[in-house]
Parts: sequence; structure tokens; C-alpha cells
Amino acid sequence: MIKIRCSILVLLLPVFLLAQKSAPLVSRIAFGSCGHQEDPQPVLDLVVKHQPDMFVYLGDNIYGDSKDLSELRRKYNQLKAKPEFQRLKKAMPILGTWDDHDYGWNDSGRHFPLKKETKELFLEFFEEPANSPRRQHEGIYTSYMHEGNGKRLQLILLDNRTFRDDLRIYRGELSHDDKYFYPLDYYPHQITDSTMLGEQQWKWLEGELSKPADLRIIGSGSQFSIAYNGYEAWANFPHERQRMLDLIKKTRANGVVFITGDVHYAEVSKLEEPGLYPIYDVTASGITSTWLFATPNENRIEGPIMENHFGLISVDWAKPDPTIKMEIWDVRDNQRIEHTVPLSTISFK
Ligand SMILES: [Fe+2]
Repeated sequence: MIKIRCSILVLLLPVFLLAQKSAPLVSRIAFGSCGHQEDPQPVLDLVVKHQPDMFVYLGDNIYGDSKDLSELRRKYNQLKAKPEFQRLKKAMPILGTWDDHDYGWNDSGRHFPLKKETKELFLEFFEEPANSPRRQHEGIYTSYMHEGNGKRLQLILLDNRTFRDDLRIYRGELSHDDKYFYPLDYYPHQITDSTMLGEQQWKWLEGELSKPADLRIIGSGSQFSIAYNGYEAWANFPHERQRMLDLIKKTRANGVVFITGDVHYAEVSKLEEPGLYPIYDVTASGITSTWLFATPNENRIEGPIMENHFGLISVDWAKPDPTIKMEIWDVRDNQRIEHTVPLSTISFK
């Protein structure tokens, strides 16, 4: 019996050590989403110019939209072959999560039949190590810990596709509201048996949020802090969004800031919740994509920025109360958003 226990321990030890490994502290994280593989991507060269510590892809990294895997592979290769992508890759580490179009199909969730196969293509593109925990569980959620000078920055990348239940189609539930000047696609679930992240990922996330960290940047393809707008967002699963807020409260996780993509413009949203510090959500969506209009969002405090852009979070760790600067830089290298908050204002008192 003891022998068996020991061998299990030996087997689990490398996984445990891998999970505990932390990288040096970082202070500048760039991010973006929604890049079409067929278009030139000058935003990537701009990212290189700004010299962040890393670049985080937040989904729709290619427009796959195919049930033909060779087609998806061809599109990943198209992005990989771009000189500007190669320059980005040479200049800094590249991390990522996915959204619907690189997962495989517009607005798709857990019923997408090729999700195991598209996961392999995703991990191959991001050169995920063979021993990565990401290869050992369903979905692509993951986390990274950066540590130095007594400070810890945690980067959590969620998978809001593999486990997500079907969206509820909008069927005219709102009698008349002039603020929605466009056709609505979805309406929030009213019952709580639907999920965004799935139990396995929720359980893992609780473990992650329970680890000590000063600042936690959570990447999600879908926007987190925005108000309901009839399109894809966490707002379509209000009980799941509440579960996230409750989990942050339960774990007393300090310094949570979301970075998100998907919508083809940039904005900063701020979600207020009793008993919790404000949850900021910096959306950077438009490496190449653009949209004609921004939807109403009463939680928006900055933006929208409709031109192509990337996002940047910079932390001044040297200050007694470190500052978190949230920025959006457009493709012409103009700073379009700057919103700075002290870390103490996004921490429990
Ligand atoms: Fe998307």
C-alpha cells in the first residue's frame, strides 16, 4: 500500500513542480485579438516597438470558421508565415487563449464537434510544451505566475468555449428599447443550469485564485464587465458572472483585472459589485478587424476606439502602492486610452 502511494507521489511530483514554477516578475503586458490571417498586421510591429515583456492573444487569433481541419491548419500557417508575426515572436514570448473563430466556428460552444482536434492545432501554433498541464486536461485554460522583489503577478487565461453551454437566442424578449438600434442575437439565461466555464475549470480557477498574488490579469475571449448588449459576453450567463465575483470574494483574491477581446473595438469597462473592489475589463479587439459601431455599455468608462489597436497594462512596482496603467494604442501609434489605478483600489481593504 505504502509502495503504491510512493509511486503515485513520484508520478505526480513533476506535475506539481511544473504547476508551482514561477517566472521572473514582469511589468508590461501587451494584448490583442481579432486578427485576420489574410490581412497585413502592422499592429504587431507596433507592439514590438513598445517593447512589452510579452504579448497575449485573446482569441479570434485566426478566422478559422471551418470544419475542415486542414483549412484551419492552413490559416494558422498563414499567420505564422507573416513577417510581422515572426518579428513579434522573435521579440517576446507569445501566449494565448482562443475565442469562437479560432476554436472553430462563429459563436460556438461545447457542442462544436472538432474541439479536441482544434485544441491540438491551437497548442501546436503556440508551441505548448509536451509536458504542459494544458495537454493533460480538457480545454486550454492555463495560468502563469511571475515573481520578484516580493511581488507576484498572476496571468490566468480562461477557456470560454470548450465547456460553454448554448447561448439563448433572442426572441423579442425586450418589448421596445431605443438604445438597441441593431438586431440583438442573444438574451441572458434566466435559469442557472447553464455554464460558461464548466465545473472542472471553475474548480481549477478556485485553486488559482487561492494562490497568493498582488495582481491577477485574467484573459477571456468574451467581455466580462460590460452590460448586456445582445451579443456574446459573460452578461448572457449572469449567474456565471456572479459566480466569478463571488469566487473573487470567497478567495479574497486581490488585484483582479480582466483583459478581453472579440468585439472589434477597444474600451475599458468597470463593474461595481457590493463587497468587492471594482472589476476593470480592458478590451483590445482589432488587430485587423473593425466594426461599424460600438454597442451601448453603461459600464464603459473609456472608449470606444474603433481603429485597429493593441492593449497594454503597465505596472509600476517601484511605488509603495504600485500603479496599474491600462492603455490602448492605435495602429498609427497614438495613445487613445490611458486609465491608471493604484493597486490598493483593486484590493480588499
Ligand atoms: Fe469572437
